[in-house]
Amino acid sequence: MCGITGYIGDKKAAEVLIDGLKRLEYRGYDSCGVAIINGKNELYLRRVSGRVDALDELVAKDPVKGGFVGIGHTRWATHGVPSEDNAHPHTDCNNQVVIVHNGIIENYLEIKEKLSKTGHKFKSETDTETIVHLVEEKLKTLHVSAANARADMLEPVFFEAVRRAIADLKGSFALSVIWAKCPNMILAARQHSPLAIGLGEGGNFIASDVSAFLKYTKKAVFLNDGELAAVKAPSVSYFSFQGKKLDHSPVTIQWDSTMAEKGGYKHFMLKEIHEQPGSVENTLRGRLLPLKGDVLEKEINLPTAVIREIKNVQIIACGTAYHAGLVGRYVFENFALPASVDFASEFSDRAKIINKDTLIIAVSQSGETADTLHAVKEAKASGARVIAITNTVGSTLTREADYVLYTHCGPEIGVASTKAFLGQMTAMYVLALHFAVIRGNIFDTDARIYVDELLKIPRLIEATLAGEDNILKIAGDFAGSEHFLFISRYINFPIALEGALKIKEIAYVHAEGYAAGEMKHGPIALIDKGMPVLAIATSSKMLQLVAGNIEEAKARGAEVIAIVDEDSREHIKASKYIVVPKTLEILSPLVNVIPLQLFAYFIALAKKCDIDKPRNLAKSVTVR
Ligand code: AGP
Ligand code: GLU
Repeated sequence: MCGITGYIGDKKAAEVLIDGLKRLEYRGYDSCGVAIINGKNELYLRRVSGRVDALDELVAKDPVKGGFVGIGHTRWATHGVPSEDNAHPHTDCNNQVVIVHNGIIENYLEIKEKLSKTGHKFKSETDTETIVHLVEEKLKTLHVSAANARADMLEPVFFEAVRRAIADLKGSFALSVIWAKCPNMILAARQHSPLAIGLGEGGNFIASDVSAFLKYTKKAVFLNDGELAAVKAPSVSYFSFQGKKLDHSPVTIQWDSTMAEKGGYKHFMLKEIHEQPGSVENTLRGRLLPLKGDVLEKEINLPTAVIREIKNVQIIACGTAYHAGLVGRYVFENFALPASVDFASEFSDRAKIINKDTLIIAVSQSGETADTLHAVKEAKASGARVIAITNTVGSTLTREADYVLYTHCGPEIGVASTKAFLGQMTAMYVLALHFAVIRGNIFDTDARIYVDELLKIPRLIEATLAGEDNILKIAGDFAGSEHFLFISRYINFPIALEGALKIKEIAYVHAEGYAAGEMKHGPIALIDKGMPVLAIATSSKMLQLVAGNIEEAKARGAEVIAIVDEDSREHIKASKYIVVPKTLEILSPLVNVIPLQLFAYFIALAKKCDIDKPRNLAKSVTVR
């Protein structure tokens, strides 16, 4: 998610905050803003639905008087379209308390409903705004009991109000909050979204990542989940959410600001590969239970009646998103719902056979892909309803679709899609499981098996990422290869296609993904001595067939690199092995694609390619 900054000290806060936001721009955002407590302890708030430069101009036109404490934000919208009203910072009813937040508050609707009933007036569509009104509500209670609070009482009251508000929140948040009556303290808290404290001379900083304050200080403390910080100019104190005092010793950051933007990774693509446990977690968050459809009705307003009456699903997408659609087809059909998948660019002619019995699922990270938008328009003209699976709130696709299910992966900077792909597949599982329960194709008890295993996937991805050194070594053995074949069967066939696409687009090497059973119908003629064949051979009802296809490839001289799990390994005879944790076969694409992403990355690294910005490619293809 996007960028938070905060500052308290002897420098002009506006300058420090905007400079910090500029250094967080690389993360991608749609709007931004700052809130500063001025010399008269009033809130100065400026926000734009646009770039930080525009915010800078706005502040320069009407500068804040005084102002040595403040917070700033670059927003990547998740709840509420990109707009000035939805931009952070958000204030309470009396414009006294103000907050910036990264993450998703799962139970915001419930909190908003309760607070509205007690008279709170909301000015935005965001989940974030509920937090600041919650703090206001807690202050009222505490403030009443400390009605004659002396100035030195206000800080403990403010701390306790924020602490109690946080206790009511469910979801992910990195937040910073200030109160005009407490100009000497910023409160910051972290739960499932990163937050760093910068310890400087004459003042202290808060940021989503250290690149926002590195020019001022290299001394930092990284908050852990469940921790609060009370940031004052001379010092910072740390607490658990329960209020227990904690100690943190600062670390000295060795990165320069360029490295800091990538979180210390060499490329955004590698950083985003490592962010994939979070992509799955955040896309599943609050959507799996209860599997009774009201999650979908509540969140995307998709009536269960529609889910019951559709006869089939037609998925349309491009590139990597298309591969996510192919995985989705296996998942929907596993639960007895017929599904087909088309490249968006090849769909148009088929629109004529579509009608209201077909539910279109359009998959697009950017939500701006021209081919996909065109295909959606044609499908709608035929009377079909459209669900969009996208990572970009307010994108064109969200306005064309009837329903939108967001993948909450945060901005994907690398042109080669990785974490968004995981989010797209995860969204497919969410939809397919809810559909299956609603349509009576699976009992709740059986659905629970899938849910429990899906919730383990982020940890399995982490375990797979931990094995990257072995993948680096294997990639090194094949960095000079001019061709690669990727093969698998059933639900991992799309992953073979994705593995091939990754190498093509970032290492510029010819690679083909094939259904393993299809090899003998032609492609096997391509195999000669030493040709690298990556075979996905994790536990499967088709494992013996895949093992046979591997033998056929080896018999013609192929060097086979097998992606196996601890059970399938003994059945596979390969030159090299990449062992991944075992999961249900139907969920295995979520794990099996990880080594292929890393393999492609390390090959491209060895070839010194421009990995984040590959030649000839755009992050969003807005032409047909
Ligand atoms: C994937 O690595 C590519 N960048 C490309 O295939 C991409 O998936 C495709 O252009 C679709 O983009 P979208 O998801 O934004 O619609
Ligand atoms: N969920 C919040 C919003 O949509 C925060 C988004 C972010 O992390 O930038 O405004």
